[in-house]
Amino acid sequence: MTWFMVAGVVVVAAAGLLRWRRPAWYWLTFGVLIATVRVLVRYASVMDACGLTVPPSRWRLTLARVTNRPVPESHVPRILRLRPTRTGLVLRLKLRPGQDAFDVSAATDRLRHSFGMYGVTSREVRSGVVEVRMTGYDVLKQVQMPAKTETRPMRVPVALREDGSVHYRDYRAVPHGLTLGATESGKSVYQRNLVAGLAPMDVALVGIDCKQGVELFPLARRFSALADNPDTALELLEALVSHMEEVYQLIRAEQRISVAVPDAEIAADIWDLPDDIRPVPVVVLVDEVAELALFASKDEEKRRDRIITALVRLAQLGRAAGIYLEICGQRFGSELGKGITMLRAQLTGRTAHRVNDETSANMAFGDISPDAVLAAIQIPAETRGIAIAGDSTGGWHRIRAPHTSLRQAVNTCNKYADRTPDVPALAAYRPAAGPLPSARVPLSKTAPATA
Ligand SMILES: Nc1ncnc2c1ncn2[C@@H]1O[C@H](COP(=O)(O)OP(=O)(O)O)[C@@H](O)[C@H]1O
Ligand SMILES: [Mg+2]
Repeated sequence: MTWFMVAGVVVVAAAGLLRWRRPAWYWLTFGVLIATVRVLVRYASVMDACGLTVPPSRWRLTLARVTNRPVPESHVPRILRLRPTRTGLVLRLKLRPGQDAFDVSAATDRLRHSFGMYGVTSREVRSGVVEVRMTGYDVLKQVQMPAKTETRPMRVPVALREDGSVHYRDYRAVPHGLTLGATESGKSVYQRNLVAGLAPMDVALVGIDCKQGVELFPLARRFSALADNPDTALELLEALVSHMEEVYQLIRAEQRISVAVPDAEIAADIWDLPDDIRPVPVVVLVDEVAELALFASKDEEKRRDRIITALVRLAQLGRAAGIYLEICGQRFGSELGKGITMLRAQLTGRTAHRVNDETSANMAFGDISPDAVLAAIQIPAETRGIAIAGDSTGGWHRIRAPHTSLRQAVNTCNKYADRTPDVPALAAYRPAAGPLPSARVPLSKTAPATA
């Protein structure tokens, strides 16, 4: 008997320790069972308390009265399926007549408390069927991506959503993306995750990093072209525009459409071409985009206008030629000059990390969803990397990318260095294969003497 008690105490202590230190393991060992039992046992009373029941129909009331039985109880939504997952439970409910998906989504916070879960979200699967996703612990606190994710060309599992599902960056569904966020909010880590996710795929990576290349140059071995200052960036972008024109020529030759058809009206894209002649898709990553749009002199202003024009052209016409833009910046509004709002309108996939003011959040979501603007401002400063991401249906999610260090990203890029395709038009900007020249001169030796 004492042994039995000792074993019981040990198990409880282990569960408590796991729950405190390793919530993900706790969930997989104890949490999932306890939560399933709790949800099933409390289901009817919780639904009743949360106002998610419908009163018995008139004929059942009449039948009860005629046969002198007790008054029948209210109906709760029927459970179609209860599926445990790695991070929580997924409940599929069939609504009763008169209920709607909004009733459930309005009650998610009450359900969360009543079932003792960490988070609850709901969405309509089809008419009358609602999926309630519950998480057992804070999955964004320490992001662990599932080992197996769906793989599709040009679709990168880049972050985890707060409901425990995977957030994909799907270039074929949403060609161009804009990532905003204050400094130190996690933009570069997000971009690094994208690069690491794209590295094993058949894709050419092009980087423009005007922060002297500190973020992207270490990953150079997987990049087909890189630029670290606005002058090179301009040449590189213009080379990309001519690459795009060549791809259109190729598509047109393949289609045998007459010369009179303007490029923009060609409906087909590179994915319709046979595999052997299809040009590689190109993802253009721009870090700190404002550096490209600022100018101090007349010459620089001319350069800036040409850069923005090239970017706008790539954003407008690039998708069908397989050129996708991924732009990161702290702000991206009209104060950066003409052409910026036009470019922004083309960047469909929006992600906002923590921002300092409402106007910055508006630059990402003002024209999409006011709720998302509010959510972006409310991201706490200490949880870096949390972001609000729009999805293709017009909804939004809180996401967080795994904390990939620069070292891990460099290793991934080196591992797949042999997959780096040669894009002839960009050959001049291909980074040298060897180690980068190291600048080991201590700053104090180059800086003018101060004392
Ligand atoms: N997803 C994340 N998970 C954990 N920590 C993160 C995450 N993203 C960023 N950080 C932390 O925040 C720091 C700044 O991130 P960074 O991407 O360089 O910011 P930004 O490019 O927006 O200035 C990183 O060094 C890292 O320590
Ligand atoms: Mg950065």
